[in-house]
This record gives sequence, structure tokens and C-alpha cells, in this order.
Amino acid sequence: MKNTNKTKMTAVPGGPAKRVYIVTFGCQMNEADSEDIAAAFRARGYEVTPELKKADAVVVNTCTVRQKAEDKAVSQVGRLRLWKERHPEGKLFVVGCAAQKLGAKYLKSRFPFVDEVVGARAIERFEDALEAQYGPADAAIEISHKNLFRSPQTAYVTIMRGCSLKCSYCIVPAVRGPASFIPAAEILEDSRAKLAAGAKELVLLGQTVNSWRRDGATFSELLMEVLRLPAIERLRFMSPHPLYYDDAFIKLLAGEPKLARHMHLPVQSGSDRILKAMRRGYSRGEYLDLLARLRAAAPDLAVSTDFIVGYPGETEGDFADTLRLVQEGRFSMAYCFKYSPRTDRPEMRTAITGAEMERRLARLLAAVRENSRVVLNERIGKIEEVLFETETHGRSSGNFAVRVKAGGIPGKVSTVLVDGAEKNTLNGKLI
Ligand code: 5AD
Ligand code: SF4
Repeated sequence: MKNTNKTKMTAVPGGPAKRVYIVTFGCQMNEADSEDIAAAFRARGYEVTPELKKADAVVVNTCTVRQKAEDKAVSQVGRLRLWKERHPEGKLFVVGCAAQKLGAKYLKSRFPFVDEVVGARAIERFEDALEAQYGPADAAIEISHKNLFRSPQTAYVTIMRGCSLKCSYCIVPAVRGPASFIPAAEILEDSRAKLAAGAKELVLLGQTVNSWRRDGATFSELLMEVLRLPAIERLRFMSPHPLYYDDAFIKLLAGEPKLARHMHLPVQSGSDRILKAMRRGYSRGEYLDLLARLRAAAPDLAVSTDFIVGYPGETEGDFADTLRLVQEGRFSMAYCFKYSPRTDRPEMRTAITGAEMERRLARLLAAVRENSRVVLNERIGKIEEVLFETETHGRSSGNFAVRVKAGGIPGKVSTVLVDGAEKNTLNGKLI
């Protein structure tokens, strides 16, 4: 992890700054939480270090969305035994979704060298864990604006926590709790501070981010408010759910060029039978209809998605429906996951056999790769609005990596005519 923090640090009387090493698993929500955690440490005079051996404190921010994610996070905690032996004064914090699921009692008994456990639901009270270890802080917590995970021009803004849907395969509602929406005033204050500190692009975050509503205001109204802030070049949000799109949003998308021409819209399956079993709340046809409406409003819209293969009872026919959807949805990119049981209910554990699971995953990945290539090549000859990070590299509104020979102005959006594509990158010229 890169330490991109350039914020002036609170000086520690009589010595160099202490260092915190943060390992983050899971989604952007966890990344955003890790940034808040970094900010809380900075307010106590710490800087973020990419080197474990130099760390005075370690935070493991865990994920449990699939069993593999949980296992990885847990084994990372296990490996820190050695660090703790070498740094007996150092403090180890285990936080996030797996911490929530497994609980402090279990984690501390299995790993007695863990100092604090803070579950995802309590993460806003991470400061309490710091206080328990280090005593009260001198300074008020400053707002962090430097994104540790993306380009420093991009800032995450969490607008909701938790999820109130009941997708059959998903553990998130159980670990993060029901949806709760952050008041618009707080979101605007956070956005304003991050823009004032140099961010050009904001990413509004939530598990079902477009379900946000609060005090009579809708998601589209919130977007409009954020778009009015001075200095904003581009606005993204992640991840929306198909159920919460409405006409007001589609109208806004059509008329608002600063709203990114990219949507990460997880579909999960292309089979109506499986979508129903998953309790996704839409059919394949409804999902495709939504894509058509979005693309009618924004013809150059890029859409990426998530798929789960091997859901219990998924037949060869269901899987074929998913394969067909890759092309039909014209996805620019897709994450493909093997179904991972997150409950002990027997009917939810009877996934297809391991070998068949691997075969389906490989076929889906190949279809996605081939389709992404086609979608990328379709951009040749077209124009992309690119937010430059360096003089030669940037990211387009459709979320494609773009390269030019020279002339990009970091932090500014410029128009590029695409004249080639390779791997995952578009090549072009500034016009
Ligand atoms: N098994 C496999 N994939 C899952 N996801 C969520 N829960 C599971 C599970 N039990 C995937 C979904 C979701 C993404 C974040 O993780 O595709 O969109
Ligand atoms: Fe993992 Fe889900 Fe938690 Fe994100 S919300 S860290 S994906 S379990």
C-alpha cells in the first residue's frame, strides 16, 4: 500500500512520527474505512507506512464476503504473531467485516496478541479503540483527503452504511447491519473538504448507494447538490442496485456531463430462475431493459458487473444464460466469483462440484475477456473525456485507462480522440 498522505502532521513532541501499517481486504467501503482509520492515526501524529517492520501499530481491515476472503484476513492476523513478538510495544487492531462476524471473544482467544477488535458495525467508533490503547488525543481529527487506494485526485465519500436487502447468498446485511443513510449536510461537508484539499473526482460509496434517501431528499437530489460544489471535475458512485434507478436519475445522467459515464452494476446471474432464488428483485429482461434506458440517456455509458457462478442448483442451462448475458450486456469488465456458502443452511451449501465450478468459472472468464476486448475496441475512433493523473496517463469518464504521448494536465479533464487499444488501455491524442 502506498502512503500518499501529504497532509501536515501533528508533531509529536520530542521525536519522529510513529508509524501505522494498514492492511485492507475487501471492497471500497473497507478502503474508505481504512482511510478514516489512517486519518485518526494521523491526528495522533502517526504516518502511514508501507513497511510492516517499521510499524508501531498495525491495523488489519478484514472482509468476509466469501470464505476465501475471511480465510485470507484471518491468516494475515495469524502471521502478525511474529511482528508482535518483535514489537511487544506495538498495538494490533483487527477491524471490519470478518472481525464483526467472528467477534472479539473468538479472535482474542485464537490470537491473544490482538489488542483491539472493532467490527464493521462499530467502525465509526474506532476512535474509542485508539483511546483505549493510547489515551485521549490532543488534536481534533482532521479530514483525510488523500486516497490510499486510487489516484490522489480521487476521494471516497461514504454516504450510507449497511444494506437492507436480503440477497440469499450475501453475508453483508448480517455483518454490516441494515441500511443507514448519512445526512446530506455531512456528505456535502465531507465532499467539500476533500475537494478543497485537492480531490478532483469524488466516489460516493454505499452497499446499495443509489438507495440513499434522507430527510425527504432523494439520491438524484443529493447528486445534484454534490455536482454544484466548486472544483468538482467528475462524480462517480459505487455500487448501485438495479432496483433503485428512477426516471429522475436517468434524466440527470442525460443532462450532467460531470456524472461519470460508467456504472458498476452487479447482475450476479443471467438466469431468471437463479435471480429469483437469489432474491435479486429483477429478471434478466428487467436488467437489460434498465441498461437500455441508461444507454439511451448516455449512449457512451460503460457498464461493468459482478457474476456469481455455481449458485446451488445452477444447471448447465442457467449457466448458459449467464454466458449469453456477457455479450448482451456489452459489459466493459466483470468480476466473476465462485459461489461461497455463507450460511449453514443445507440447501445453501449444495453448490455444484468443485471441478464443474472451476470449468464454469474458466468459461465465464474467457467470455468476459473476449467481450471486454470487443467493447474496448469499439471505443477506437471515438472521443473520451479523460481526467489526467500524469501528463501521459488518465482515466476516462467510462473508467477506461487512457494513454497519450504527451500534453495531459494532471487534475484536468481533457478530450482525447482514441486511435488504438491494447490490453486494458485506450491510446489516443488530445484534441
Ligand atoms: N459467494 C460468491 N460471491 C459473492 N458475492 C457476494 N456474496 C457472495 C458469495 N456468497 C459477490 C457478489 C457481489 C460481490 C461484491 O461479491 O458478486 O456483487
Ligand atoms: Fe467484504 Fe462485504 Fe465487508 Fe465489503 S462489505 S469488506 S465486500 S464483507
